Amino acid sequence: MAQPWSPQSWRSKPIRQVPAYPDPAALEAVEAKLRTHPPLVFAGEARNLIDGLAEVAQGKAFLLQGGDCAESFAEFTANNIRDTFCVFLSMATVLTFAANLPVVKIGRIAGQFAKPRSDDFETIDGKTLPSYRGDNINGSEFTIESRTPDPERMMRAYYQAAATANLVRAFATGGYADLSRARHWNLAHHHPDLSRRYDEVVDKIDDGVGFLRTFSLADAVKQRTSRVDFYFSHEALLLPYEEALTRQDSITGDYYATSGHMIWIGDRTRQLDGAHVEFCRGVKNPIGLKCGPSLSEDELLKLVAVLNPDNKPGRLTLITRFGSDKVAGGLPKMIRAIQREGANVVWSCDPMHGNTIKLQSGHKTRPVSRVFEEVKAFFDIHRAEGTHAGGMHLEMTGQDVTECLGGAQEIKEIDLFDRYHTACDPRLNASQALELAFLMADTVRAAHSKGDRFAASA
Ligand code: PEP
Ligand code: CO
Repeated sequence: MAQPWSPQSWRSKPIRQVPAYPDPAALEAVEAKLRTHPPLVFAGEARNLIDGLAEVAQGKAFLLQGGDCAESFAEFTANNIRDTFCVFLSMATVLTFAANLPVVKIGRIAGQFAKPRSDDFETIDGKTLPSYRGDNINGSEFTIESRTPDPERMMRAYYQAAATANLVRAFATGGYADLSRARHWNLAHHHPDLSRRYDEVVDKIDDGVGFLRTFSLADAVKQRTSRVDFYFSHEALLLPYEEALTRQDSITGDYYATSGHMIWIGDRTRQLDGAHVEFCRGVKNPIGLKCGPSLSEDELLKLVAVLNPDNKPGRLTLITRFGSDKVAGGLPKMIRAIQREGANVVWSCDPMHGNTIKLQSGHKTRPVSRVFEEVKAFFDIHRAEGTHAGGMHLEMTGQDVTECLGGAQEIKEIDLFDRYHTACDPRLNASQALELAFLMADTVRAAHSKGDRFAASA
């Protein structure tokens, strides 16, 4: 018999990664204000996303989830949002075309502010201050004023999330995402080889649509391709914020986190008896669970039972993030445990968080060769186990930053000094992200030609 749950029940559980707010009354005042504010998403949309993810769980669709490591107040511009959306659409186009499968699109956007940290404190030149935890908690500037958690930042994050969601919804449904505009999603700063490859895909799509036109089917195609469903997700780390935006759905009576369509539990806060698992088990949104190398099969199965007791396909996405050196040792065991249990899950690969290195220059970076290796291994292992490699979870941006090493642009260590803009983890830039989409497309196409049972099920 499950323990009773309420939006507050996480408060009686052990919790990690909590900011030390100096003024509890100020925190409570912000929570009270947020409780009166409109939800950012509607429960019915979260249910639609579960249906989309159920298709992924059953091998009939792919998942593409991605965006900034952390959204920031400083990088909040329409152009940034538009460019991230463009890369997303172009990646989804490449993938849909290669796999003949629909792509469920979820941004790490409109709420992805709070960051788990390895250390509570950071020391620079002998001075120690609280670590930066994301713009909805404190500032990244290395001063005591900036690093002190300020609850008012939650309000600013809420309004930024609302404005971001508004623009993305407008792009998704207002004509910008119409497939007939696919050529315009090719960003000017893409590496020329990738631009050319992308244009070739668009040419083939145009040919296909032209062919259908001869059968008077163009209108039907147009209707289905004039808009996209695009969803918002973030890590449900800052629980006072999540609780304040949790609402009871008037249609079903169920509770939903209305801060975003999908929320996930990070690798550092997935303790079975912990506050974050407690909060997420009670809301009916689709839930992601980050699964790193330290997660045992036994613990994973217990988490799956707590988070998805009804074994509903689409409710739970396991986001594996081993690192290219550990994926072969860890993923097959995890897949077999889930298969033995008959658990319905979406398998997604986060090839970012297990492949971070720190250079002598102080830069945190990721060699894209390792990112690509983990993705390839993820697909190969799932094919060998007979399970569907459902999708990708990426840290990426539409900007031409120099944060990850390698790729078609051959970004080198020295280039990291050039356009390293992230406040947190290094992101794939637009060209590296598109290159990864082509890698996935090639892998899926190769599986098709070998008669892989899932990829061939379209
Ligand atoms: C993240 O996705 O930004 C993150 C911190 O990942 P993980 O919890 O897997 O380390
Ligand atoms: Co990150």
